[in-house]
Amino acid sequence: MIKMNDFAGEPEELLQEQISAVEKVLRSGWYVLGPEVKNFEKLWAENCLVNHAVGVANGMEALEIGLLSLNLQPDDEIITTPMTAFATVLAIIRAGAVPVLADIDPQTGLLDPDSVERCISPKTKAILLVHLYGQIRQMDRWQDLYQHYNLTLLEDCAQCHLATWQGQAGGSFGIWGAYSFYPTKNLGAIGDAGALVTNDLAIAQQAIILRNYGQTQRYHHPEIGLNSRLDELQAALLSVRLKWLAEFTQQRKYIANCYLTKITNPKITLLDPPQDQENHVYHLFVIKTDQRERLMEHLNKSEINNLSHYPIPIHHQEPCLGIRTDPQGLKYAEIHADQCLSLPCHPQMTDPQILRVIEVINEY
Ligand SMILES: Cc1ncc(COP(=O)(O)O)c(C=O)c1O
Repeated sequence: MIKMNDFAGEPEELLQEQISAVEKVLRSGWYVLGPEVKNFEKLWAENCLVNHAVGVANGMEALEIGLLSLNLQPDDEIITTPMTAFATVLAIIRAGAVPVLADIDPQTGLLDPDSVERCISPKTKAILLVHLYGQIRQMDRWQDLYQHYNLTLLEDCAQCHLATWQGQAGGSFGIWGAYSFYPTKNLGAIGDAGALVTNDLAIAQQAIILRNYGQTQRYHHPEIGLNSRLDELQAALLSVRLKWLAEFTQQRKYIANCYLTKITNPKITLLDPPQDQENHVYHLFVIKTDQRERLMEHLNKSEINNLSHYPIPIHHQEPCLGIRTDPQGLKYAEIHADQCLSLPCHPQMTDPQILRVIEVINEY
C-alpha cells in the first residue's frame, strides 16, 4: 500500500528525540503556554523570517485570531478563494466578517487576481490569499493590487511551510500569516497546533491576549477572546520535528520533480511547475483529469492511496450558498473541484514507490 502519509515510517532517530521531548515536558510539570511554547515561537518566527510568532491551538483559530485582531466591522468583506479547506472561510465567518469568493487560475489552483479585482466593493477590507498546495506565486502582482485598492493582505499559510518567494517566506507579505501544524501538514504536530506570524508588534500582542480568553493580566478580560492556547507537549514536539523539516521538504520536491518529468499520460494534466525551487514545497502534488472517478478506482486497485483537494468548492457548501462571488462566476474553481486528484507525496516515500505511482498513472 502506498499511503498519502506514513508517520509510522518516520526515522527512528526522530521518534526517539520526540519521546525524550515528551518526557522532558512531563517531568517539567508545566503543560500549557510555558517555555516550550516560547521556544517554538522563537524558532518558527526565525524560520518565517518575521519578528513574531504566536502559538495557538490550530490553524483555523490562527486565522480567526488574526482576523479578530483587525477590529473588523460586521459587514466588512474579505475576498478569498473557493478552492481551499473549509476552515479558511469558516474563520472569516466566525470572526464576524463577510467572505466573498473569487475564481482561481486553472494552471495553479491559486486565486486569480483579475477575478479578485472584479469582486472588490466599497466594503472590501482585505484579501486572504491561500498558498494552496505549498505554492507562493506572483506576490509582486498581489502587492500592487492591494496597495492600489488600499486593502489589507492576509495569508493562509497552512500548506506552505518553508516556501519562499524572492527570499521572503509565507506570512511576511501581508499583515499576518496563519499556519496550521495539523499532523498531515509539512510541519505537523502530534495533534492540533497552529501559529500566527507577523512583523507587526501590535497584532502579535493582540493575538497573545485573544488566544487566552482576551486576558491582559490574570483575571482581567478587556477583550472577547477565545481559548486557543498551545500546549507544551505540542510545542516541544514541533521544535524537534522542525529540525527535520528542511530535509523532508527536499524529499517532497524530489518526488514532485519525478512526477513532473515522468508522468506523460495525455489523459492527465499537470499543474504549473514552480517558477523556482523555493516557490513550492509540495504539501500536495495535484493532477487533473476529466475522468477522476475512474482514475481513482485504477489507483485504488493498485493500492495507491489518493485524495481530492478539494472536491466541493466552498460556494457549494450548505452554509456558503449565499456568499457573493465573482459576477462572472467561479467556473475554474468548479472545474478544478471536479478534476483535481492528489497523489502520494510525503517524505517517507521510497524510489520504488515513486516509480510505481508514475507507472500506474502512465498505464492508465
Ligand atoms: C488551507 C488551509 N487553511 C486552514 C486550515 C485549518 O487548519 P487546522 O486544521 O489546523 O485548523 C487548513 C488545514 O486543514 C488548510 O489546509
